[in-house]
Amino acid sequence: MMNMTEKTVLVTGGLGYIGSHTVVELLVAGYQVIVVDNLSNSERFIFDRIIKIAQKEPVFYQDDVCDLAAMSNIFKKHQVDVVIHFAAFKSVGESVEKPLLYYQNNLISLLNILQLVQENSVEGLVFSSSATVYGEPDVLPATEETPFIKALSAYGSTKQMGEEIIEMVTSSGVFKAISLRYFNPVGAHETALIGELPKGIPNNLFPYVTQTAKGKLAMLTVFGDDYNTVDGTCVRDYIHVVDLAKAHLAACRRIINQECQSASEVYNIGTGNGTTVLEIIKQFEATTDKLLPYKIGARRPGDAEAVYADSSKAEKELLWKATLNLKDMIQSSWAWENTL
Ligand SMILES: NC(=O)c1ccc[n+]([C@@H]2O[C@H](COP(=O)([O-])OP(=O)(O)OC[C@H]3O[C@@H](n4cnc5c(N)ncnc54)[C@H](O)[C@@H]3O)[C@@H](O)[C@H]2O)c1
Repeated sequence: MMNMTEKTVLVTGGLGYIGSHTVVELLVAGYQVIVVDNLSNSERFIFDRIIKIAQKEPVFYQDDVCDLAAMSNIFKKHQVDVVIHFAAFKSVGESVEKPLLYYQNNLISLLNILQLVQENSVEGLVFSSSATVYGEPDVLPATEETPFIKALSAYGSTKQMGEEIIEMVTSSGVFKAISLRYFNPVGAHETALIGELPKGIPNNLFPYVTQTAKGKLAMLTVFGDDYNTVDGTCVRDYIHVVDLAKAHLAACRRIINQECQSASEVYNIGTGNGTTVLEIIKQFEATTDKLLPYKIGARRPGDAEAVYADSSKAEKELLWKATLNLKDMIQSSWAWENTL
């Protein structure tokens, strides 16, 4: 077993929602951490919050990962052992309106990272992929063998292409890569010092729920109640962001300990539990004692009926399993909302 304290992890997008929680876990576990973030979807104060929680300071560069020269300088200054590449744009809806912007940001940043990982003897890369690659799976739960369907958005397409590019580059390269396919990340850190910072009207259910309960939004709309599910509303696999952060540590360990079985590996990261929108609403009301005003609206185009994960491969090979439940997710999201 390697001594993790000697290892340096460079985290792109490290001030974002999932990145900030992962940086905290890495620091607490004893890694040296370098954060690169251009603040396109995050705030500088998150850096101070990370230090407050971890009682350790990462190195921070406010740079764009698409800027190869700037990134090259960072890799010259530091001997990096593993890169975790979170930096990307992530709004499915925006990507339909501005596809080129998504291809440019998400693919150029990835190509730069791959080049720098290859040129600088980095041991490996952990890539943020998504359950979006499965679209609407024919068979549930989705396993890593579930085929990709043609992406319905530029965002989904960048994740599918990202995984394919990584597979090709690692097959002739000298480093390892692990792509983690996240299901639906929700929740916040138990300190309520970091959490999701959605800009504008949220696209995702959890910030919509907490903002409605807080009175920032008038009413929650449930998009369709005529799906073929237990109560007619869509089913998703919600995973606590701290569990998700820990999956990245497991992936780093696997790379550092040279346990990867192939140059490019993929893992589903979910809980395996499917929860409907109405179940979330009921559980939110029961957990917080707040009444959540909601109405049933039309189906939203492009929404899959039900998606949840088979994460047994991650459990077996990454030795990782989600431990936090829906109540933890709701309590921490609500506590975070109350600080905003
Ligand atoms: N949150 C989800 O629901 C979800 C689900 C599946 C996959 N993912 C993926 O996980 C990753 C992290 O997601 P998140 O929810 O933390 O998003 P986020 O927007 O909170 O974090 C991304 C961070 O990357 C930064 N960034 C973006 N482009 C950059 C660039 N070119 N250079 C430097 N920094 C840049 C942003 O400022 C932000 O801090 C993304 O790749 C996303 O596609 C997210």
